[in-house]
Amino acid sequence: MPDTPRPPNPDAFRAPTGTHDVLSPESSRWSGLIAAFARRAERFGYGLAITPVFEHLEVFRRVGAGTDVVRKEMYTFTDAGERELALRPEGTAPVVRAFVEHRPTPPWKAWYVAPHFRYERPQRGRYRQHHQLGVEAIGVDDPDLDVEVVDLAHGFFTDIGLSDVRLRLNSMGDEESRPAYRAALRSYLLDHADGLGGDFVERVEASPLRVLDSKRSDWREIIERAPQITEYLSDAAQNSFERVQRGLDALAIPYELDPRLVRGFDYYTGTTFEFTVEDLDAAQDAIGGGGRYDRLAEEMGGPAAPGIGFGIGIERLLLAADAQGVVGSRVQRPDAFVVDALGGLEAVRVVHELRSLGLRADRSYGGRSVKAQWRQADRSDARFGVMLGADEASRGAVAVKNLDTGDQTEVDRDEVAAWIETRLETPHDA
Ligand code: HAM
Repeated sequence: MPDTPRPPNPDAFRAPTGTHDVLSPESSRWSGLIAAFARRAERFGYGLAITPVFEHLEVFRRVGAGTDVVRKEMYTFTDAGERELALRPEGTAPVVRAFVEHRPTPPWKAWYVAPHFRYERPQRGRYRQHHQLGVEAIGVDDPDLDVEVVDLAHGFFTDIGLSDVRLRLNSMGDEESRPAYRAALRSYLLDHADGLGGDFVERVEASPLRVLDSKRSDWREIIERAPQITEYLSDAAQNSFERVQRGLDALAIPYELDPRLVRGFDYYTGTTFEFTVEDLDAAQDAIGGGGRYDRLAEEMGGPAAPGIGFGIGIERLLLAADAQGVVGSRVQRPDAFVVDALGGLEAVRVVHELRSLGLRADRSYGGRSVKAQWRQADRSDARFGVMLGADEASRGAVAVKNLDTGDQTEVDRDEVAAWIETRLETPHDA
């Protein structure tokens, strides 16, 4: 059958549904957040980890055969070499895969900023490509590390000026606690399934724990009376969880125990937590979350290496920041704008010199009229205009205009960069 030509896609040259371009000045908020996170993570001993944007599908199958993210939302593809691959839907599995592959000395502490991909129904705070700031600390099982990881995230929110962030804390227990709890929960839920429909039974059969974080109002009553994981913790799991709570108390980090907090991946063991804000809709109110995953490295064929980490959604963080009026744009004014009436290479040299001294300098291009260049200088919001004119050049000078006050003076050509630098109110790297 001959191929019928496809009609042109009117949206072909728009960002795909559920994705966004982030351009200046908005992108300057992103660079500010990333820099603040990097500073904090590095203070805590975490080094940047950059892993591929796609992995073998198997890496992600490990993290949640029973979860929506893995079952329904992954962007998977087969490459020209017949490999089954997937775009990263979450950040923990790739970092654990890198740990298993390179075996760095534990504790290995890594931070990342990366795009994540999930085929979700796009809405405010829920996208098909989102970005996370995260950390993973692998190789030690010590509740003090859990406290440190929570502290890292909590202090980051404070650093950027976000307030009223709720921390919900839970424990998924250990190998000893979980099977008994899962069995008790399953039989409780099935015993109370009357009238709740096939949907409910199907969810319980797939994963009883996952029913707990359902937002379905008709299931709420059953869920509220369900047995709680914390009643099933082994002594070891209970002691460790208490130590985490005492640690958070010691650092005056407020939290609420939430035995119904169930995170969206199968790998979680022990401490789990989520940070939520009231400024976002309930279904998308988590700006970050994480927990322990003590078996994941082994499940990937690696050594026994417990781990803990979290991911913070940058887009959601910024929505919360918008609602609270924090995390402003950081686009900075140019220091100088060069207006060129000479037409030779002098403008190329002067702009180069200004920038070499660390100043933010710009110019216009394409041989525009002097009047048009001054208009552009004004629009650029530069502090100083530097005029390269024939008269001044004959005296070995340039004219410098303070664009805020309109004052103009003549400055020695070779001194101009230093002259401007000494007149800036705020030094650059402040
Ligand atoms: P997660 O809870 O799936 O955890 O994602 C972390 C954060 O990413 C969420 O709290 C949310 O802010 C943001 N996020 C998730 N999905 C979307 C989306 N579709 N659109 C916008 N933002 C989104 C993880 O991914 C785990 N890897 C976290 C972790 C690290 N656990 C241990 N270590």
